[in-house]
Amino acid sequence: MSEPEPRLVTITSTQAFGEDQPNPDETLPDPLALLGGWLPANTDELRPLMTLATIDADGYPDSRNVLLSEFDGEALFFHTDARSRKASELAANPRVSLTFVWSELGRQLTVVGDAEPASAEEAAAVFASRSRYLQLLAWSNTSELAERGVAARREAWAAFAAEHPDGTLDAPPTWVGFRVTPRRITFWRGDLDGPSNRVEYTRSGDGWSAERLPG
Ligand SMILES: Cc1cc2nc3c(=O)[nH]c(=O)nc-3n(C[C@H](O)[C@H](O)[C@H](O)COP(=O)(O)O)c2cc1C
Repeated sequence: MSEPEPRLVTITSTQAFGEDQPNPDETLPDPLALLGGWLPANTDELRPLMTLATIDADGYPDSRNVLLSEFDGEALFFHTDARSRKASELAANPRVSLTFVWSELGRQLTVVGDAEPASAEEAAAVFASRSRYLQLLAWSNTSELAERGVAARREAWAAFAAEHPDGTLDAPPTWVGFRVTPRRITFWRGDLDGPSNRVEYTRSGDGWSAERLPG
């Protein structure tokens, strides 16, 4: 007897985590190295997911999840479609927040900062490093395709994939990258044996100020 068709698809994901500072009671003069430490290496194919919040034209927050493409020691990069709502919102207001969570580990990282377009070279290099699936997805990101039913969408996808073998696709003209320079970084560590440990770093002049916060 065949198994019944599952009604829901179960998706599991594991967020890769880098490494923490040895002594979390220590406050650092510059949190950027610690930020890089928490994130997996840029070469890790499993990219971390982050909630990107932007501000819409009415002043309301807007949020969605995107992949962190890379961290260069100064700024965090993500990539998207130039026709997307987030891209229009960023053109009008570059202020963003990025939130990562590693709930199994009891870690949360929040970055508040300003987004600016990344260079075309950087965006092309990230596209080249994306999986075949994500490359095809970037090319299939059209409202015309979104309006069609699943079967028609899959047919168009398969035809496009057949016409463009693996390794032959450059980034579509609508592929854009943004680099976010942090102005505030908050590291939250859960502690099963005590209160959570939250340290917030805020840019101050040429350096950073640090504050320990509850919650
Ligand atoms: C796991 C996951 C990863 C995603 N990664 C990206 C990404 O890297 N870039 C992107 O533009 N959208 C990504 N999306 C889709 C966005 O969440 C969002 O639906 C899309 O970008 C449109 O957002 P907007 O209309 O607010 O601009 C991802 C969604 C999920 C669930």
